[in-house]
Amino acid sequence: MSLTLDFTNLLSSAVGADHGLSEAAIDNQAGRTRRIHAELQARRDSGELGFYDLPGDTRAAAEIRAAAQRVRDHFENFVVLGIGGSALGVIATQTALGHAFHNLLPADRRSGPRLFVPDNPDPELTADLLEVLDPKTTCFNVITKSGSTSETMAHYLAVRDLLARTVGPSKVKDHLVITTDPAKGALRKIAAAEGIPSLPVPPNVGGRFSVLCAVGLFPAAVVGVDIDALLAGAGAMERRCASDDLWSNPAYLHSTAHFLFDRERRKNIAVMMPYASALRDLADWYRQLLAESLGKRLDVEGREVHCGQTPVKALGATDQHSQVQLYVEGPHDKVFTLLATERWRRETPIPPAHPEEDALSFLGGRTLGELLSAEQRATEYALTKAGRPNCRLIFPQIDAEHVGEFYMLFEIATAHGGGLYRVNAFDQPGVEEGKDATYALMGKRGFEAKRAELEAAFAKTKPRRV
Ligand code: PA5
Repeated sequence: MSLTLDFTNLLSSAVGADHGLSEAAIDNQAGRTRRIHAELQARRDSGELGFYDLPGDTRAAAEIRAAAQRVRDHFENFVVLGIGGSALGVIATQTALGHAFHNLLPADRRSGPRLFVPDNPDPELTADLLEVLDPKTTCFNVITKSGSTSETMAHYLAVRDLLARTVGPSKVKDHLVITTDPAKGALRKIAAAEGIPSLPVPPNVGGRFSVLCAVGLFPAAVVGVDIDALLAGAGAMERRCASDDLWSNPAYLHSTAHFLFDRERRKNIAVMMPYASALRDLADWYRQLLAESLGKRLDVEGREVHCGQTPVKALGATDQHSQVQLYVEGPHDKVFTLLATERWRRETPIPPAHPEEDALSFLGGRTLGELLSAEQRATEYALTKAGRPNCRLIFPQIDAEHVGEFYMLFEIATAHGGGLYRVNAFDQPGVEEGKDATYALMGKRGFEAKRAELEAAFAKTKPRRV
């Protein structure tokens, strides 16, 4: 059994013609989808789009498993230093597949070392983390495809110094693993010069598409995730999406519907709402994938388009008590993807008590799983009744195979979305200005002119504060 996309409630037959899509409107995109599919396959065949082929890279998987075993054998704590695509997949996989309180379990009941991912370079967060960790029993995995991301480099320098002071300069490298480009970047140079163990990020795999290479797989293997199952699921989804038939390809159907909602129904917000705490951070991973890939100023012909839906993450049932009022009655500007599981890995029974109280008596004898699943169906019903298009992605259960399917489904959907919007889904030029300005403010060599530009701009701005 694989993931299933139930798109019934995206259609006008469910939510009305003003807010839903007709089957004919979707069908109109079939020819376009065939062309985009052919283009993507050509780019894949030319070696440009490496993410498609990661599930079949058994050599990389074996290298990752062996490196992970060394960490598992020697360390109690494992810290990932990375940000963006170099952190979000790590977090999402662990939240989905690890014990919800993995770090609190005693060592003999934990599936691997404790895992920490302090992606934000927040001084208080990092200071607090480094205070509670014993460096002698901690391995740090520095992950950066480019080998030059300031946040990650700053963390690396802090950790390196801590290790030198605690385990001694000669042992620093024993506590580090670097995941970066196989040939380029400052960190690759450092790894080679200092003999720090390292893993490669394939050059043709972009940051936010890298969860199924060493970036996401190595930390997953360290904490005991079955990475072969993760890859098997991703491979199965890749084969399922090898068809250019819109109606049988869940990735193309999802991206086409979202494109049409944006363009023809003015729904420029895509909400992903898991109904399982374990799936919560998959929505965070999806948020980056969609935002950085399709949020673009220019199309491939260089025309100003300023396109892209705004991805929003929500969590059922928590956000029923926070966001659903807006979702059901607010502006008609959203399309929803609910994530649901058909089978809970564990159950919590609700013991009966207080039979005289209507507020409690109906719950007794049921389970929390039944309650949360009912709430998911109820929200779906309420959204549909209010004319809010929604679809449901169904996990037969939450396991490594289905999480692998999830990753590949949305990577392919996003690549296809790039074709629909006619933008480059694989770059992120909008991030550069802020990055360069940070370099300038922090005094990086070569950014003196940028610093002068910033200072002039700040000098001209009259602050308005209250
Ligand atoms: O998708 C991307 O390329 C980015 O979001 C990167 O993942 C992020 O900026 C981190 O980059 P790096 O892995 O080079 O440190």
